[in-house]
Amino acid sequence: MKTLGIETSCDETAIAVYDSVEGIIGESVFSQIKMHAEYGGVVPELASRDHCKKIIQVFKDATKSVDLKSIDQIAYTAGPGLLGALLIGESFAKGLALSLNIPLIPVNHLEGHLVSPSMEFKDIKPPYICLLVSGGHSMIVDVKAMGEYEILGQSVDDAIGEAFDKVGKLLDLPYPGGPHIEKIAQNGNPFAYDFPRPMMHSNNLDLSFSGLKTAVLYKVKEINLIDKQTKADIAASFQQAAIDVLNKKIIKTISQTGRENIIIAGGVAANKKLRSSIKELELKMGVNVYYPDLKYCGDNGAMISFLGALRSRAEVNPLRSHVRARWPLTELSK
Ligand code: KG4
Ligand code: ZN
Repeated sequence: MKTLGIETSCDETAIAVYDSVEGIIGESVFSQIKMHAEYGGVVPELASRDHCKKIIQVFKDATKSVDLKSIDQIAYTAGPGLLGALLIGESFAKGLALSLNIPLIPVNHLEGHLVSPSMEFKDIKPPYICLLVSGGHSMIVDVKAMGEYEILGQSVDDAIGEAFDKVGKLLDLPYPGGPHIEKIAQNGNPFAYDFPRPMMHSNNLDLSFSGLKTAVLYKVKEINLIDKQTKADIAASFQQAAIDVLNKKIIKTISQTGRENIIIAGGVAANKKLRSSIKELELKMGVNVYYPDLKYCGDNGAMISFLGALRSRAEVNPLRSHVRARWPLTELSK
């Protein structure tokens, strides 16, 4: 069975085709990052317009070696995300589904990130713990079964990617700050500044990154002239503090749940320091740690097509709209 997946929830226009036997057989992603960088963040109106401009080319690239008549169903991100951006993906998906006369399946973007590592590692089967870390979310989810998710903990304020991006701005780094912070942190001392590790020792599995970001803000204000080395030290110390918190919470999660498989997903899962820090738990705690290939950490069509294949029964009426700006994982039915 072949499922075409469409992702337009934020600033990536992405399409892929997943074949249940061969895996991903075509994919293309266009990132709008350069356009939004000028404004220091994603501008929703510009995002929708650009999805509209690019989606046909992305579709052509993703399907250049796929016979359109062989596609069995269309899945698309219906939420959560920017409403205008989601509507572009939905309209395109509906048009395709109607013209090819095949089922239309709206799927949840967060669930796409949750299942993405099992697209590559066939042996990962629920139950497992997913640390979902992106620009909009930071959560620890117990994936009990496909479609059965319990959020064990989540950020009570900023998402971790958001904190990386805001600290990036404070350090005059281009948007999005995450990858740039990681890069300059390589030359910095992670213990140069003792930034707070909010909620690291709290009893629950919730997270918080706003206080850490504010501590960086005060430090930047305190230092009059920030040279290259100071910037690298601040970036490394901030990154270390954020990773320490996540590491501690995952250790706590493993102890509380006894789960043996841990996956890390979402844009921030691309951070190599975070990856190696959680990977060390394999030796320390006897668990297995998996993370998606770097190209599947950020938003992509592959995870949407894969999820669509898992959710074939969620077919809907293509003449109605199903997009939702807010769509918590907890509202997903089996
Ligand atoms: O999943 P994603 O592409 O979009 C959503 O938010 O859904 O995640 C984007 C976030 C941004 O905040 C970006 O700065 C962050 O992921 N990010 C990173 C790295 N690469 C991307 N953060 C830290 N280190 C990285 N290497
Ligand atoms: Zn995402």
